Amino acid sequence: MDAGKGKFNIRGWVYRERKGKNNIFIILRDSTNIIQCVVKKEKVNKDVWEKAEKVTIESSLEISGNIKKDKRATGGYEIEVEELNIVNLAQPFPITKDYSPEFLLEKRHLWLRSRKLTAVMKVKETILDASREFFKMNGWHEVTPPIITSTACEGGSTLFQLKYFNDIAYLSQSAQLYLEALIFSLEKVWSLTPSFRAEKSKTSRHLAEYWHLEGEAAWLDFEGLLKFMEGLISHICQRVAEKNEKELKFLGRDIETLKKIKPPFPRITYDEALKILEKDGIKIKWGKDLRTIEEDTLMKHYEKPLIVTKYPKEVKAFYMKEDPNNPKVVLCCDIIAPEGYGEIIGSSERETDINKLIKRLKESGEDIKNYEWYLDLRRYGSVPHSGFGMGVERVVSWICKLDNIKDAIPFPRTMLRKYP
Ligand code: 4AD
Ligand code: MG
Repeated sequence: MDAGKGKFNIRGWVYRERKGKNNIFIILRDSTNIIQCVVKKEKVNKDVWEKAEKVTIESSLEISGNIKKDKRATGGYEIEVEELNIVNLAQPFPITKDYSPEFLLEKRHLWLRSRKLTAVMKVKETILDASREFFKMNGWHEVTPPIITSTACEGGSTLFQLKYFNDIAYLSQSAQLYLEALIFSLEKVWSLTPSFRAEKSKTSRHLAEYWHLEGEAAWLDFEGLLKFMEGLISHICQRVAEKNEKELKFLGRDIETLKKIKPPFPRITYDEALKILEKDGIKIKWGKDLRTIEEDTLMKHYEKPLIVTKYPKEVKAFYMKEDPNNPKVVLCCDIIAPEGYGEIIGSSERETDINKLIKRLKESGEDIKNYEWYLDLRRYGSVPHSGFGMGVERVVSWICKLDNIKDAIPFPRTMLRKYP
């Protein structure tokens, strides 16, 4: 819809309708916006009036008429209808005013038409465009890792298993191990893939299938990794602020808050996090992971995403590099979003010492045989390298100020839902 002046043709769906004795108002919706159309009984022929009288919510229509500015109309314009064609007369639309979140999930295929979800999908597109742009600007190569895998990357407890001919396989939790293989030819690689987690938790932050933006680079040290991730998140926020003013306004996200998301981000270590938490009355035993409640409490002190580094080795994955200055912690970094949106990025420098890798795989109960191919990467021309994974829907939730991560993806998959 590109509102100008004069004659106008438009196709769309009925968002609202109000039928009076002499005027029928139809608010029409298309992918760009909504616009008010008025059918005046005295101005149109009988046939057009009768069709307008029949129109129902979500019917698809073709309309032509004269467009003019109208301050009172939603969207600021009004079309005075001359011709009206009903492409499909919709049956009574099941989503009316009183709906529960569960009902909307059951009718997700229809609820996707809502202005809220339309706005979210547009912002998500900008987030993905901006990410691709940032990788390209910095000379990273896009690659396509597999979804069907033979091993865990993030531990066995959240693996989805599937029948694979006469064998079993798993749905990928992360492309990381495959990206690590690809850095030996392309050096800096990234991918956008679905990742799968059989999360038993029913939280507003967890999906069973989510989109994972991952990067891995040869010769990239820990400090370089932190800089790159700060740059990426900032670039995403600036682009969304530039391109999605209308959507952000609709979603209730203040643009100025996004514009402020620029490097440097605050940085603390896990040890410092424990000290802050203790002052806030939460005592965590050293060696325990930070849970949602701890992350949220920490974030009361910060307006920008927070970089938390050097977690205890026991709570992190086998591939993370031991800190040369303190073998109890690893050179990892979680980035936590402001306002209680939780961890948006998990990252680390990677362990290059093959013996340490083998030891930690064994400790986590893995069969070394399955990881021989990965260990080969340390045997043939190993280099220092680092990488990260960003949960796209977590970032969408934060930027769009959503109550639940389910609204950051068209068809959410959770422990309790795979329909529609
Ligand atoms: O922290 P995670 O588990 O890290 C990895 O998978 C690494 N192998 C990534 C890498 O270094 N290439 O997951 C990365 C991010 C998390 O920070 C979070 O934002 C998101 O993925 N995430 C989820 N998002 C939605 N639903 C879930 N169940 C998620 N689990 C992780
Ligand atoms: Mg993590």
